[in-house]
Formats: sequence, structure tokens, C-alpha cells
Amino acid sequence: MVRQLKTRILITRAVFDEVLAYLRLHFDVEDNQSDVPFSADELVRKLADKDGALTVPTDRIDGALLKACPTLKAVCNIAVGYNNIDLDACTAAGVMACNTPGVLDDTTADTAWALMLATARRVVESDAWLRRGEWTGWSLQDWLGTDVHHANLGIIGMGRIGQAVGRRARGFDMQVIYHNRHRLPIDVEKAANAQYVSKEALLGSADFVVLTLPYALENHHYIAEAELALMKPTAILINIARGGLVDDAALVDALQTGRIAGAGLDVFENEPALNPAFIQLDNVVLTPHIGSATRATRLRMAMLAAQNLVLALTGGTPPNLLNPNV
Ligand code: GLV
Repeated sequence: MVRQLKTRILITRAVFDEVLAYLRLHFDVEDNQSDVPFSADELVRKLADKDGALTVPTDRIDGALLKACPTLKAVCNIAVGYNNIDLDACTAAGVMACNTPGVLDDTTADTAWALMLATARRVVESDAWLRRGEWTGWSLQDWLGTDVHHANLGIIGMGRIGQAVGRRARGFDMQVIYHNRHRLPIDVEKAANAQYVSKEALLGSADFVVLTLPYALENHHYIAEAELALMKPTAILINIARGGLVDDAALVDALQTGRIAGAGLDVFENEPALNPAFIQLDNVVLTPHIGSATRATRLRMAMLAAQNLVLALTGGTPPNLLNPNV
């Protein structure tokens, strides 16, 4: 009798032990617990004999890879964003693609607030100054920042994360405006505490512009020189969404010339090799793509991705299937 080969999967980066153990119950697993990222060629080689993959946003899954990996049936991203996956190519190749929506909304919204408060109140800059031993005494006019409370918060991209950012503004007595491809139903607007405006109106009146929209080619450089020119000189830009939504060179220029007051950035073009000019600027707070990075949330994301993969490869329908027509 020919023994049925166990379904084979690749986990492209290190995951929590419980996720690895869960996947090993179902599959023959090749892991990467050493967490050294695979090059594009390595990824193709490793996936060439696999049925499924648990991927992260830095793994590029495109048509060329899919062609070289004909046994692949499912790719499950540990992320809500999936711009690293060519969805049309997956559909054409009959490969299911999944993401992890929902479980990271609150954590990622918290990160937007951490960046807003840190940038407006100069937390990182003054911390560094204190550590350098430059604090010789209290002064009335030292470290003056910008008020967050009662300010005008503009949210671009009003999905689950944008709405969670808006809800948090209640405690700060802020006015919340938003722009989105489609206006939300009134009851959702009410729950999110937000009023719909055009992109231009939002950029022109917000004290904080927070980006929570997904990246897609048509959104490339959604905030570039023209958009930055519309913003108030006192405004602060927060990007917790994706690199590429902002033209980083134009943003550097706007920050250097005082065109806008500051920026809190968790994502960049060409991560992790961000524009070196950011490092020289005092009016930015920079974090290394940590939007969803709490243990509880990253565990939930990885487990959800693993559950998607198990369902995809055992004849079920994964709850977060992005291309149901496969
Ligand atoms: C992280 O960037 C995500 O999309 O979940």
C-alpha cells in the first residue's frame, strides 16, 4: 500500500511555540525558528515542494514564485495587510490567500495614539535630552509641545483600525473627521465619533492626520508634495498603515522646511532601509513597524493565520479567505 504523504508547509519566519506545535499536529512543517529572512530565491526553492505557507509581510508572493511552486495551494499571511501577495496571480494559480483581520485593530489603534502623543508632546526627544545629562533645571519654556486634547483629528481610511482610532478620541475631547473611499453608514460614523469630509478638506483642517488605509498601487504616494502643501504648518502626520502611501522624500522635505510640524512613523518606503534623513530630524518619532506588536496580539495573529492554513489545506473554508473564487 502506498502511504499518503503528509501535507507539507513552510513557516517563513520564527513563530510562537504554541503555533508551531499546532501546525505540527496537522502538517509536515519546515520552520525557520532561527528567524533569518529568506532571500527571494531561497523562498522559491523552499516553497517548490510545499502545499502551503505561513508568510509575513516581507515575503513577496508573486506570479513568478507561484509558477515555480506548482504544488502550492494556500498562502496565509500573518498580517492584515496583504500587499506582499499578488492576489490576482494567486487566484489565477488556484492558490488560496488569507490575512488576519480583526484581531489586531485595538493594538494598532493604540500605536497610532502612542505616536500622536509621543510626537505632539516630544516624549522621545526630551527623553534623549535628559539621558544625555542636559537637564539642569525646570524651565517654563522648555519642551513646549502641541495639545492633543480638543484638537482636530483627521483619519484617512476608516476601516476597523481607523474606527478604533476615532473611538479613542472621545476621551481627548477631539473633533474627528475622516476620509474614506466610501462614506460609512450614519450609525457607524456615530459609533466611530467621526464626520465624513473630502481628502482636501481633511488635509486642510486636521491637526493630526492619521493614515489607516491599506496600500494598493492606486494609493502609491497618496500623501506627496501636493498633499503636504495642503496641511497646516502646525499639523502632525501619523503613518501606521504602510510604507509607500507617503512619499518619504517629500515628507522629509516638508519636515525640514517646517511645512508641517512633525510626523510619527511606524512604516516606511523600502523598510528596513528607511530614508536616512529621518534619523537627523528631531520632529519625527520613528518606530520599526511595531503597529500590532504586543505578545497577545501577535500570538492571536499567528494562530489565526495557522487556523486559516489548516482549514485551507484540509478541505475547509478559511474564515479570512481573500480570494473566495479560487
Ligand atoms: C502589519 O503590518 C499588518 O498588516 O498586519
